[in-house]
Amino acid sequence: MAISSHNLDALAEGEAMTAPGSGGRSYTLAVVDPDPKLRTRLALQLGEEADVVTYSEVAALAEYQPPGRPMVVIFGPGLADAQGLAEVERFTRARPNAGAILVAAELSTGLLQQALRSGVRDVLGAPTEAVSFHESVERVARTLTMVPTLAPAAGEVPTHGRVITVSSTKGGSGKSVVATNLATSLARRSSGPVVLVDADLQFGDVAVMMRLAAPHTVVDAVAAHDRLDAQFLQSLLVRHEPSGLLILPAPLEPSFAERVSGEDMVRIVEILQTFCAYVIIDTPAQFNDVVLALIEHSDDILMVAGMDIPNIKNTKLGLQTLRMLGVPEERLTLLLNRANAKVQLDVSEVERTLGIKAGSLIPSDIVVPQTVNKGVPVVLDAPRSEVARALEQLAGLFCDAPASSAPIRKGRSLFTRS
Ligand SMILES: Nc1ncnc2c1ncn2[C@@H]1O[C@H](COP(=O)(O)OP(=O)(O)OP(=O)(O)O)[C@@H](O)[C@H]1O
Ligand SMILES: [Mg+2]
Repeated sequence: MAISSHNLDALAEGEAMTAPGSGGRSYTLAVVDPDPKLRTRLALQLGEEADVVTYSEVAALAEYQPPGRPMVVIFGPGLADAQGLAEVERFTRARPNAGAILVAAELSTGLLQQALRSGVRDVLGAPTEAVSFHESVERVARTLTMVPTLAPAAGEVPTHGRVITVSSTKGGSGKSVVATNLATSLARRSSGPVVLVDADLQFGDVAVMMRLAAPHTVVDAVAAHDRLDAQFLQSLLVRHEPSGLLILPAPLEPSFAERVSGEDMVRIVEILQTFCAYVIIDTPAQFNDVVLALIEHSDDILMVAGMDIPNIKNTKLGLQTLRMLGVPEERLTLLLNRANAKVQLDVSEVERTLGIKAGSLIPSDIVVPQTVNKGVPVVLDAPRSEVARALEQLAGLFCDAPASSAPIRKGRSLFTRS
């Protein structure tokens, strides 16, 4: 049995990072309580082979365990009051990858409610009964298995993912439809992880289009400041199970957009590139600072244009801006959306006007709004439709591997024992 009861004054930070606490598990097991006897009793109850780190206070746990590291934390009776739970809440909010269990001397409905609001996943009465204690730890640990470990392990060569920004200078031209379907198709083709970032910070609707609840958003990544690293960022991503695509959703409120700068977004993308093969970015309809910073950082820019005169006029202005900014021509791909529409605009005429050949033509199809309303990408819901085939052809420009029919589980699971 190894219990490392940290003498917090003496403990160096580096020591804590490599201190016991994994015991063959892929997550840290920690006990926090101000009473040393209680701490030890709880740690001992976790079993002979369990390797537990113990702390007298939440601040010490936060200080010595790196963010992003998966852990199950048992908060003892000393934290089962309003003040203790406020600390627990601060901890769990900053650590989406930590599963909290509260052990309380007296269980009341009020305490249970407060505990759940503080991000605690299970509450047990003291003294704890060994079997239910173990079951609780296992149950909470299982909830953490949802987060895949994708960051390169020590000694592994980091990926440098290809960044594809989907943009247009006109609202409603089809950027989000293109971005969600392109990313879904790439996720099914690529052997490495694929992530879709919603950089439409005010009105992003990627999560809605993929029918996903967004527990975390770009704002959580920006708020992490210096703590932001690959592991922490991974814990914020939501996984689209049918395709394996990872998503970083837009903020939940338009006003949050003000807190995010172009520099912030580029840093997030740079970290994503270290463990993803492709980073697809959906953008709003204007070239704001965030979009321009992302475009500058991108390997490919997909300019989406609808087949009407105002769309073409704005696309021309957009392309001129990109050329003025020195974006190399070979990074630009023109996508004409609703290209079969009977709108009396000829594709070759449009190409001549814009001074660039279209790399992709996406037909207009009622199945698109239908699948948007279902929250299922058209490449999954109606793969035989013409529009899905055109979107697959577009994905083929970036990855020529065929799409797999089964969802791919990319990356190592945090909880698979090696
Ligand atoms: N090829 C298509 N055929 C039919 N409908 C389409 C097609 N492409 C997009 N649409 C529809 O057009 C609407 C706008 O598409 P989308 O949300 O992708 O545009 P956007 O450029 O992201 O808009 P915004 O600028 O508001 O973010 C959606 O309702 C979508 O269903
Ligand atoms: Mg959009």
